[in-house]
Parts: sequence; structure tokens; C-alpha cells
Amino acid sequence: MDRKTFYITTPIYYPSDKLHIGHSYCTVATDVMARYKRMQGYDVMFLTGTDEHGQKIEEKAVKAGITPKEYVDNMVSGIKALWKLMNISNDRFIRTTDHYHEISVQRIFDKLYEKGDIYKSVYKGKYCTPCESFWTESQLVDGKCPDCGRDVVEAEEEAYFFKLSAYSQKLVDYYKEHPLFMEPQSRLNEMINNFIKPGLEDLCVSRTSFSWGIPVDFDPKHVVYVWIDALTNYITALGYLNDEYHDFEKFWPADVHFVGKEIMRFHSIIWPALLMALDLPLPKKVYGHGWLLIDGGKMSKSKGNVVDPVVLCERYGVDAIRYFLMREFPFGSDGIFTNEALINRINSDLANDLGNLISRTVSMIEKYFGGTLPENLKYGPDFAEDADVIKIASALRDTVAKNVEKYAFQDVLIEIMKLVSRCNKYIDETAPWVLAKDPENNSRLAGVMYVLLESIRIAGILLTPFMPDTSEKIRIQIGAPSDIYNWDAAAKFNVRSGNITVNKGDALFPRIDMAKELAALEANKKPAAEPDPEITIEDFMKVRLKVAKVVECEKIEKSNKLLKLQLDDGNGIRQVVSGIAQKYSPNDLIGKNIILISNLKPAKLCGVESKGMILAATDKNDVPTVIFADPSLEPGSVIR
Ligand code: MSP
Repeated sequence: MDRKTFYITTPIYYPSDKLHIGHSYCTVATDVMARYKRMQGYDVMFLTGTDEHGQKIEEKAVKAGITPKEYVDNMVSGIKALWKLMNISNDRFIRTTDHYHEISVQRIFDKLYEKGDIYKSVYKGKYCTPCESFWTESQLVDGKCPDCGRDVVEAEEEAYFFKLSAYSQKLVDYYKEHPLFMEPQSRLNEMINNFIKPGLEDLCVSRTSFSWGIPVDFDPKHVVYVWIDALTNYITALGYLNDEYHDFEKFWPADVHFVGKEIMRFHSIIWPALLMALDLPLPKKVYGHGWLLIDGGKMSKSKGNVVDPVVLCERYGVDAIRYFLMREFPFGSDGIFTNEALINRINSDLANDLGNLISRTVSMIEKYFGGTLPENLKYGPDFAEDADVIKIASALRDTVAKNVEKYAFQDVLIEIMKLVSRCNKYIDETAPWVLAKDPENNSRLAGVMYVLLESIRIAGILLTPFMPDTSEKIRIQIGAPSDIYNWDAAAKFNVRSGNITVNKGDALFPRIDMAKELAALEANKKPAAEPDPEITIEDFMKVRLKVAKVVECEKIEKSNKLLKLQLDDGNGIRQVVSGIAQKYSPNDLIGKNIILISNLKPAKLCGVESKGMILAATDKNDVPTVIFADPSLEPGSVIR
């Protein structure tokens, strides 16, 4: 018989050099879910990846003086390394620059155009560059982007549109027929009130003002709007309209898309409408989780308040961080991240409760029985102290399963830790150190140890998806063979016979000194500047720097950052596009000598060709200031 399948996805991340703990939150939750389903015997597909096109990336690459592809390649390797560090068990990783994905997106666009769901018109409206989102006047909040609160710009251009408005009623009907499509339920109300009721407008799905995107196959001066490119990753990664993979029939529709609440709109309105237009089934659920906040606001690199998951994992261990993220905050709600909360949680739950239970139990078995329990064990529901523990341990797997189905990860951990705490209390109630005084009590003492070992085994199995490494360490310490350390065996108390040998190991979670740690974390916020990576003189000699004179200069209409300059480089006139419009108007530059990198590969910025780059320094707000060369120097003078 075929195994049941389970397809779960995270959003695909924008390539960035600093993913913060908020980004890790969604990926860890997805990983926990995927691991549970695998444990339960499902054939799981866990997809994550990176969302690599768009104007924002093109601009960042220009600023870094490299091509967008070079830029995203650098960032993606960092993201993959982070997921590896955090023990993320994704089955597939999609990059939207993967060739197969690009082909599929073009085919999807063609298909919708041929069907009449995409048509050509003129776009007039507001655009938020950082969010890559188009907005109508009525959607703006105080004239600003409703998602990020930043300024929007006027935009007008020939564009393709998706007939989103035609799907309004179909979406409402679908939500009614599938009341669990969006979760938590509050998200459904938000979507209806904020987006559906005010009326859905057709969506602009192509751009011509920049080129870093997937070209529309039949009209290549247009690139596909990044959200169409991004959303379709969930099906292209299975092989929809491409030959790279062949699992579309097997896994689609997805069981659940986990997404942050701010991108719920894209996943619960635009994505379903696109799928309807493609005559494809909709995902079974879109779960909009909350945000991790810090200092009362969202974590963001520009606000300088990001918390680095690499630092946290290195200091406290990956499993402690995974545990904290899932235990501290209810999945559907926002939560405030603080170092105090993290350290408290590690100390109370992991060091005091879990770690202590295991080390006490294993130490007692070593002390009283030389590490191996005898055959003869006295325990069971007839002993008043045992009854409660056995009842909780025996019921735990089913309680966990119910909460897993609801994505209530916090409740799952609360339930598991109830058993752990109950066991610690059980040690106090049974007082093994008193039993140990009389050899008559030997089998009862062994029975008490057995009850503890069985409870720890069940808790350890059920903790596996949250803390895979710790769970394995627990298994080894309690000497449990793998064949009784799995989902089926977690439903049964009493699967082991006597003669169990334990293996004392290091403390799983050493207690943390709060004051010392807080001081260290504070110091970590201001890391010493990284030393600049060295290059050889040969590397430097590859860069041709020359003096050039600005002869003409004008603004590029569609951008508020770019200027188009005509430069005399001593050999003739060349055109360079530069992101310096925030500080300079054309007249500030005409007649000035600047420093030109003359052998940089030509690139297109905002659709305008640029041959080279001019040198500028950025201030702390990232605004570039041009480095002018002495006015007496001839254009073409070589700089060394
Ligand atoms: N590229 C889009 C998603 C396209 S999906 C077809 C995107 N990328 S993102 O890198 O900005 O965000 C990825 C995920 O991280 C989103 O679900 C977002 O909500 C989540 N988070 C980013 N900051 C977060 C917190 N501070 N807290 C919790 N999740 C957060 O959006």
C-alpha cells in the first residue's frame, strides 16, 4: 500500500546576509512538523528555498558592484549554511533562479495569457520598492505602504494584468466551503475585511523598469512580477510544467503552507486565484504564524535590532534554541523575544527539569545497581505513586498527536514537559535514597527506576522533532535500542524487560548564569569589525581605475536613486548609471572629475545600460557620497 503523503512548505526567503531569529522561527516550525509526520510514517516533502528576483536585489547588487546573480549566489550559500546549522531537514531547496523554475514560470504566464486570465494594459499606481508591492490609493495607510509603513512611489507603465477581480466571489465561496483553509481563524476575518470587502482589483503582474526577473516569454522587455514568480515555486519545485522533478501528482495539493502573517494576503488571495485560473486544486491550508518582536517592534536589519541565530545556536546549542522558539510563543500569535526569556526557559525547562531528570535517573541506576537494572522489578498501577505517572506517560503520545494536528507546538511541549515535571515529583515521592537503605526494597527501587526510564523514553521520542540531537543523546543515556524509540513505541509504557543498562553522559543542558550571559550577549551586539579579506596585488591590478569627467547627467525617470551620466574617460564618451540621486542632482556633477572603474562588465539598471561604475563612499544611513578627483587631472589618467 502507498504511504500517505504530507507536503509542507516555508516561504522562500529573500536572499540576505543576515537572516534573523524571526526568519528561523518559521523554518524551525516547519521542520518540527515535517519530522513529526515522518515519524508517523508519512512520505513527507518539506520544501524551502530562496526568492531571488526583483528590483530590490538588482539595486543591492549594483551597490555591491557585482551582478545580481553573483549577489544572490553569495547570499544563498549563507542561508543554506544556517539551515544546516539549525538541523533543518528540508527535502528540497528551490531557488527562483533555477532554470527549471524560470521555464515553468514562463509557461504558467503563457498559459494564463492564452486563457485570457492575463491581459495587457497600462499600470498607474503606487509601488513600494522594498516590499515589491503595488498598492491602490485606498489600500495605503496615511499615504504609505500598508505592510512596512515606508514611502511609496508613483508608477505608470505598460504592463500585464491578472484578472484577480474575477475571482473575488469564487474565493469567498471557497473560504465558506473550506472553513479551515486559513488558520488561525482571525486571519480569515482580516483577509475578508481588509482585502475582499473593499473589492479586489486586477493585479499588475509584469514590470519593464528593471530587468532582474524572469522575462515574459512572448514579450521579453517585461519581467514577471516577483510575487507570481515566487508563489509558483510551490508547484514548480514538484515539477509542474518542467522536467526537473516528477512529484506533482504525488504531493499537490500541499497539506499546509506556513507563512508569516504579513504575507497571508499573497497566499490566501492571490495564490488561490492563480491556482483556480490554472484549474489546479488549492492547498489544504495556509497557516499565518505570528511575528517575533523585539523592543516592541519587528526585527529588521535597518533598525539594527536583529538577533543572530548563529550566535544563539553557538552559545546555547541548536536544540535549546529550537525548543525555546517553539515553547515560548503560541504559533499563531506574536511574541516578544528577549535574552532573559531565552535564558530563563533554558534554565527552568531544559537544565532543571529535563536535564536534571535524566541525570538523576541515570546516576541513581549507576549508584544503586552499578548501571544495570535487575530482572526483578516491582512497579505498576497498584503502587499509588506509579499510577499517575504511568497514566500520563501512556496517554502522552495521543495528546501530542492531537496538538500536532492543530499546529499547537507550544501545547505539545507543555504536555511533554508535564510528564517530565511529574517524574521529578515522583522521585521526591518515592525517595529512592530511602529505599536504597534496605536491601529488602531492591526490586521496588529497581521498579521505580524502570518507571522513570520508561517515562523518559516516551518523552524523549516525542521530543525528537523539536530537539533531534538531544533526543538521541537521551536514547543513548537510557540505553534504549532504536526499535523501541519510535512513534509506535511511544504509545506503549512497559515495552522493556529488565536488565537495562544505562550510559551516563555529560549534562544535556548546563545551567546558565543569567547575569554573566546577559553581559556577554550585550557585548556581542557590537562585534569587533571583521578583518577585511586579503587580496593579492594581482587581484587589485585587475581593477582599472581612471579619472573621468562628467559631461552630461540626467535623472532616470522610474527610479529615485539612479542618475544616468555621460563620462569623458579619455578615450571617448561612455554611459554609466549610478545610485547617487539621493544626494546629487545632475547640475552638482556636470564638469566634475570622478573616479571610474572602467573595466567592469556592462550591466542594465532600470533597463538602462551602464558601462562601468563610479566610486562613492556610503555614510551610516547608506547614502553614497561621490569621491571627486582633483579638477586638474586629465580624463583617462590612470589611478594606482
Ligand atoms: N520572499 C517572500 C516570501 C515569498 S513566499 C512565496 C518573503 N521573504 S522574507 O525573507 O521576507 O520572509 C520569509 C518569512 O520570514 C516570512 O514568512 C516572514 O513572515 C518571516 N519572518 C520575517 N521576520 C519575522 C519575524 N520577526 N518573526 C516571524 N517571522 C518573520 O516574505
